[in-house]
Amino acid sequence: MANRFVLNETSYFGAGARESLADEVKARGFKKILFVTDKVLLECGVAKMVTDVMEKAGIAYDTYSEIKANPTVKNVQDGVKLFKDCGADALVAVGGGSVMDTAKGIGIIVANPEYSDVVSLEGVAPTKNKSIPLIALPTTSGTAAEVTINYVITDEVNKKKMVCVDPHDIPVVAIVDSDLMMGMPKGLCASTGMDALTHAIEGYITLGAWEMSDIDRKSVV
Ligand SMILES: NC(=O)c1ccc[n+]([C@@H]2O[C@H](COP(=O)([O-])OP(=O)(O)OC[C@H]3O[C@@H](n4cnc5c(N)ncnc54)[C@H](O)[C@@H]3O)[C@@H](O)[C@H]2O)c1
Repeated sequence: MANRFVLNETSYFGAGARESLADEVKARGFKKILFVTDKVLLECGVAKMVTDVMEKAGIAYDTYSEIKANPTVKNVQDGVKLFKDCGADALVAVGGGSVMDTAKGIGIIVANPEYSDVVSLEGVAPTKNKSIPLIALPTTSGTAAEVTINYVITDEVNKKKMVCVDPHDIPVVAIVDSDLMMGMPKGLCASTGMDALTHAIEGYITLGAWEMSDIDRKSVV
Protein backbone atom coordinates (compact mmCIF):
# COMPACT_ATOMS: atom_id res chain seq x y z
CA MET A 1 0.00 0.00 0.00
CA ALA A 2 1.26 3.48 -0.80
CA ASN A 3 1.82 5.96 2.01
CA ARG A 4 -0.02 9.21 1.54
CA PHE A 5 0.77 12.53 3.16
CA VAL A 6 -0.83 15.89 2.59
CA LEU A 7 1.14 18.98 3.54
CA ASN A 8 0.51 22.71 3.88
CA GLU A 9 1.80 24.77 0.98
CA THR A 10 4.00 26.66 3.46
CA SER A 11 4.76 26.16 7.17
CA TYR A 12 6.65 28.35 9.60
CA PHE A 13 7.97 27.23 12.98
CA GLY A 14 9.62 29.24 15.73
CA ALA A 15 9.27 32.07 18.22
CA GLY A 16 8.05 35.18 16.42
CA ALA A 17 6.92 33.26 13.33
CA ARG A 18 3.63 35.19 13.38
CA GLU A 19 5.48 38.11 11.77
CA SER A 20 5.41 36.06 8.53
CA LEU A 21 1.64 36.42 8.39
CA ALA A 22 1.70 39.89 6.81
CA ASP A 23 3.93 38.84 3.90
CA GLU A 24 1.86 35.70 3.29
CA VAL A 25 -1.42 37.62 3.18
CA LYS A 26 0.03 40.23 0.83
CA ALA A 27 1.85 37.76 -1.44
CA ARG A 28 -1.34 35.75 -1.85
CA GLY A 29 -3.32 38.86 -2.71
CA PHE A 30 -5.95 38.49 0.01
CA LYS A 31 -8.01 41.67 0.37
CA LYS A 32 -10.08 41.02 3.49
CA ILE A 33 -9.55 38.52 6.29
CA LEU A 34 -12.10 36.90 8.56
CA PHE A 35 -10.06 36.56 11.76
CA VAL A 36 -11.32 33.50 13.67
CA THR A 37 -10.54 33.16 17.39
CA ASP A 38 -12.40 32.79 20.70
CA LYS A 39 -13.39 35.03 23.59
CA VAL A 40 -10.72 33.76 25.99
CA LEU A 41 -7.95 34.44 23.48
CA LEU A 42 -9.29 37.94 22.87
CA GLU A 43 -9.41 38.60 26.63
CA CYS A 44 -5.97 37.22 27.49
CA GLY A 45 -4.17 39.08 24.69
CA VAL A 46 -3.06 36.11 22.59
CA ALA A 47 -5.27 37.10 19.66
CA LYS A 48 -3.87 40.64 19.85
CA MET A 49 -0.35 39.32 19.28
CA VAL A 50 -1.55 38.39 15.78
CA THR A 51 -3.97 41.25 15.07
CA ASP A 52 -1.09 43.64 15.88
CA VAL A 53 0.82 42.10 12.95
CA MET A 54 -2.14 42.58 10.61
CA GLU A 55 -2.78 46.14 11.79
CA LYS A 56 0.87 47.14 11.38
CA ALA A 57 0.70 45.86 7.80
CA GLY A 58 -2.63 47.58 7.04
CA ILE A 59 -4.49 44.30 6.46
CA ALA A 60 -8.29 44.65 6.62
CA TYR A 61 -10.09 42.14 8.84
CA ASP A 62 -13.29 41.39 10.73
CA THR A 63 -13.31 39.17 13.83
CA TYR A 64 -15.43 36.09 14.57
CA SER A 65 -15.06 34.85 18.15
CA GLU A 66 -18.37 33.17 19.04
CA ILE A 67 -16.74 29.76 19.32
CA LYS A 68 -17.18 27.31 22.18
CA ALA A 69 -14.63 24.67 23.17
CA ASN A 70 -15.73 21.57 21.23
CA PRO A 71 -17.33 23.80 18.57
CA THR A 72 -20.85 23.22 17.33
CA VAL A 73 -22.63 23.09 14.00
CA LYS A 74 -24.06 26.53 14.78
CA ASN A 75 -20.59 27.97 15.45
CA VAL A 76 -19.60 26.92 11.92
CA GLN A 77 -22.82 28.16 10.30
CA ASP A 78 -22.62 31.56 12.04
CA GLY A 79 -19.05 31.87 10.80
CA VAL A 80 -20.07 31.08 7.24
CA LYS A 81 -22.68 33.83 7.38
CA LEU A 82 -20.23 36.37 8.75
CA PHE A 83 -17.60 35.42 6.15
CA LYS A 84 -20.08 36.17 3.36
CA ASP A 85 -21.55 39.29 4.99
CA CYS A 86 -18.17 40.93 5.58
CA GLY A 87 -16.85 40.25 2.08
CA ALA A 88 -13.79 38.32 3.22
CA ASP A 89 -11.71 36.26 0.80
CA ALA A 90 -9.51 34.37 3.29
CA LEU A 91 -9.46 33.09 6.87
CA VAL A 92 -6.85 33.50 9.62
CA ALA A 93 -7.45 31.24 12.63
CA VAL A 94 -5.71 31.84 15.97
CA GLY A 95 -6.58 29.32 18.66
CA GLY A 96 -6.59 25.75 19.78
CA GLY A 97 -8.25 22.86 17.97
CA SER A 98 -11.71 24.33 18.59
CA VAL A 99 -10.97 27.56 16.71
CA MET A 100 -8.94 25.96 13.90
CA ASP A 101 -11.57 23.25 13.36
CA THR A 102 -14.34 25.86 13.16
CA ALA A 103 -12.33 27.81 10.60
CA LYS A 104 -11.84 24.64 8.56
CA GLY A 105 -15.60 24.02 8.56
CA ILE A 106 -16.27 27.61 7.50
CA GLY A 107 -13.74 27.44 4.66
CA ILE A 108 -15.10 24.15 3.36
CA ILE A 109 -18.74 25.26 3.39
CA VAL A 110 -18.13 28.64 1.76
CA ALA A 111 -16.38 26.78 -1.08
CA ASN A 112 -18.90 23.90 -1.11
CA PRO A 113 -22.28 25.40 -0.11
CA GLU A 114 -24.14 22.13 -0.74
CA TYR A 115 -22.76 21.03 2.67
CA SER A 116 -24.20 23.99 4.59
CA ASP A 117 -26.00 21.66 7.01
CA VAL A 118 -22.48 20.75 8.31
CA VAL A 119 -23.61 17.28 9.45
CA SER A 120 -23.30 15.89 5.91
CA LEU A 121 -19.55 16.56 6.17
CA GLU A 122 -19.06 13.81 8.76
CA GLY A 123 -16.51 11.18 7.82
CA VAL A 124 -14.90 11.42 4.41
CA ALA A 125 -16.94 14.06 2.56
CA PRO A 126 -16.54 14.10 -1.25
CA THR A 127 -16.29 17.88 -1.50
CA LYS A 128 -15.44 19.17 -4.97
CA ASN A 129 -13.63 22.39 -4.11
CA LYS A 130 -10.68 23.34 -1.96
CA SER A 131 -11.46 25.35 1.16
CA ILE A 132 -11.32 29.10 1.09
CA PRO A 133 -7.63 29.83 1.90
CA LEU A 134 -6.96 29.39 5.61
CA ILE A 135 -3.86 30.45 7.53
CA ALA A 136 -3.77 28.68 10.92
CA LEU A 137 -1.80 29.71 14.01
CA PRO A 138 -2.17 27.25 16.92
CA THR A 139 -2.18 28.45 20.53
CA THR A 140 -2.13 24.99 22.14
CA SER A 141 -0.01 21.93 21.38
CA GLY A 142 -1.28 18.55 20.36
CA THR A 143 -4.27 18.73 18.03
CA ALA A 144 -2.04 19.59 15.05
CA ALA A 145 -5.19 20.87 13.31
CA GLU A 146 -2.98 23.46 11.55
CA VAL A 147 -1.26 20.70 9.57
CA THR A 148 -3.92 17.99 9.25
CA ILE A 149 -6.88 17.26 7.00
CA ASN A 150 -9.21 16.62 9.96
CA TYR A 151 -11.63 18.73 11.93
CA VAL A 152 -14.04 17.88 14.74
CA ILE A 153 -17.46 19.51 15.13
CA THR A 154 -20.11 18.73 17.76
CA ASP A 155 -23.56 17.78 16.49
CA GLU A 156 -25.68 18.88 19.44
CA VAL A 157 -28.92 17.48 18.01
CA ASN A 158 -27.57 13.94 17.75
CA LYS A 159 -25.24 14.45 20.73
CA LYS A 160 -22.02 13.38 19.06
CA LYS A 161 -18.68 14.72 17.94
CA MET A 162 -18.27 14.37 14.18
CA VAL A 163 -14.81 13.76 12.80
CA CYS A 164 -14.56 15.20 9.28
CA VAL A 165 -11.71 14.11 7.03
CA ASP A 166 -11.06 16.04 3.82
CA PRO A 167 -7.80 16.89 2.02
CA HIS A 168 -9.54 20.05 0.78
CA ASP A 169 -9.50 21.52 4.30
CA ILE A 170 -5.75 21.66 4.93
CA PRO A 171 -4.64 25.20 5.79
CA VAL A 172 -2.58 26.74 2.97
CA VAL A 173 -0.19 28.14 5.58
CA ALA A 174 0.58 26.90 9.12
CA ILE A 175 2.38 29.30 11.44
CA VAL A 176 3.51 27.60 14.65
CA ASP A 177 4.76 30.39 16.90
CA SER A 178 5.73 29.27 20.40
CA ASP A 179 5.13 32.82 21.72
CA LEU A 180 1.38 32.18 21.32
CA MET A 181 1.57 29.19 23.70
CA MET A 182 3.75 30.65 26.46
CA GLY A 183 0.80 31.98 28.48
CA MET A 184 -1.23 28.76 28.54
CA PRO A 185 -2.60 27.95 32.01
CA LYS A 186 -0.83 24.95 33.61
CA GLY A 187 -3.74 22.53 33.11
CA LEU A 188 -4.09 23.35 29.41
CA CYS A 189 -0.33 23.20 28.92
CA ALA A 190 -0.19 19.76 30.57
CA SER A 191 -3.23 18.28 28.79
CA THR A 192 -2.38 19.52 25.29
CA GLY A 193 1.30 18.69 25.91
CA MET A 194 0.26 15.10 26.68
CA ASP A 195 -1.70 15.13 23.41
CA ALA A 196 1.51 16.04 21.53
CA LEU A 197 3.58 13.49 23.48
CA THR A 198 1.04 10.74 22.72
CA HIS A 199 1.35 11.41 18.98
CA ALA A 200 5.14 11.32 19.22
CA ILE A 201 5.05 7.98 21.10
CA GLU A 202 2.67 6.62 18.48
CA GLY A 203 5.29 7.52 15.85
CA TYR A 204 7.88 5.66 17.96
CA ILE A 205 5.98 2.37 18.42
CA THR A 206 3.90 2.08 15.24
CA LEU A 207 4.38 -1.01 13.11
CA GLY A 208 3.65 1.22 10.12
CA ALA A 209 6.84 3.25 10.71
CA TRP A 210 8.45 4.93 7.71
CA GLU A 211 10.53 8.01 7.01
CA MET A 212 7.83 10.50 8.02
CA SER A 213 6.92 8.78 11.32
CA ASP A 214 10.64 8.52 12.10
CA ILE A 215 10.88 12.30 11.96
CA ASP A 216 8.20 12.39 14.68
CA ARG A 217 10.07 9.71 16.67
CA LYS A 218 13.29 11.71 16.51
CA SER A 219 11.50 14.61 18.14
CA VAL A 220 10.97 12.48 21.29
CA VAL A 221 14.29 10.65 21.66
N1 LIG B 1 -8.49 18.71 13.93
C1 LIG B 1 -7.95 17.69 14.56
O1 LIG B 1 -7.27 16.86 13.95
C2 LIG B 1 -8.18 17.53 16.03
C3 LIG B 1 -7.39 16.65 16.76
C4 LIG B 1 -7.61 16.53 18.13
C5 LIG B 1 -8.62 17.26 18.73
N2 LIG B 1 -9.39 18.10 17.99
C6 LIG B 1 -10.45 18.93 18.60
O2 LIG B 1 -9.83 20.11 19.12
C7 LIG B 1 -10.58 20.58 20.25
C8 LIG B 1 -9.66 20.73 21.43
O3 LIG B 1 -8.65 21.65 21.09
P1 LIG B 1 -7.55 22.13 22.16
O4 LIG B 1 -7.18 21.00 23.03
O5 LIG B 1 -6.48 22.80 21.39
O6 LIG B 1 -8.33 23.17 23.08
P2 LIG B 1 -9.45 24.27 22.73
O7 LIG B 1 -9.19 24.90 21.43
O8 LIG B 1 -10.80 23.66 22.96
O9 LIG B 1 -9.16 25.35 23.87
C9 LIG B 1 -9.48 25.06 25.23
C10 LIG B 1 -9.53 26.37 26.02
O10 LIG B 1 -8.22 26.89 26.13
C11 LIG B 1 -8.20 28.26 25.72
N3 LIG B 1 -6.88 28.53 25.15
C12 LIG B 1 -6.37 28.08 23.97
N4 LIG B 1 -5.11 28.51 23.79
C13 LIG B 1 -4.80 29.28 24.88
C14 LIG B 1 -3.65 30.02 25.26
N5 LIG B 1 -2.51 30.03 24.54
N6 LIG B 1 -3.69 30.71 26.44
C15 LIG B 1 -4.80 30.68 27.20
N7 LIG B 1 -5.94 29.99 26.90
C16 LIG B 1 -5.93 29.30 25.74
C17 LIG B 1 -9.33 28.39 24.73
O11 LIG B 1 -9.76 29.72 24.63
C18 LIG B 1 -10.37 27.45 25.34
O12 LIG B 1 -11.10 28.14 26.32
C19 LIG B 1 -11.69 19.58 20.46
O13 LIG B 1 -12.89 20.03 19.87
C20 LIG B 1 -11.16 18.33 19.79
O14 LIG B 1 -12.21 17.46 19.38
C21 LIG B 1 -9.17 18.27 16.66
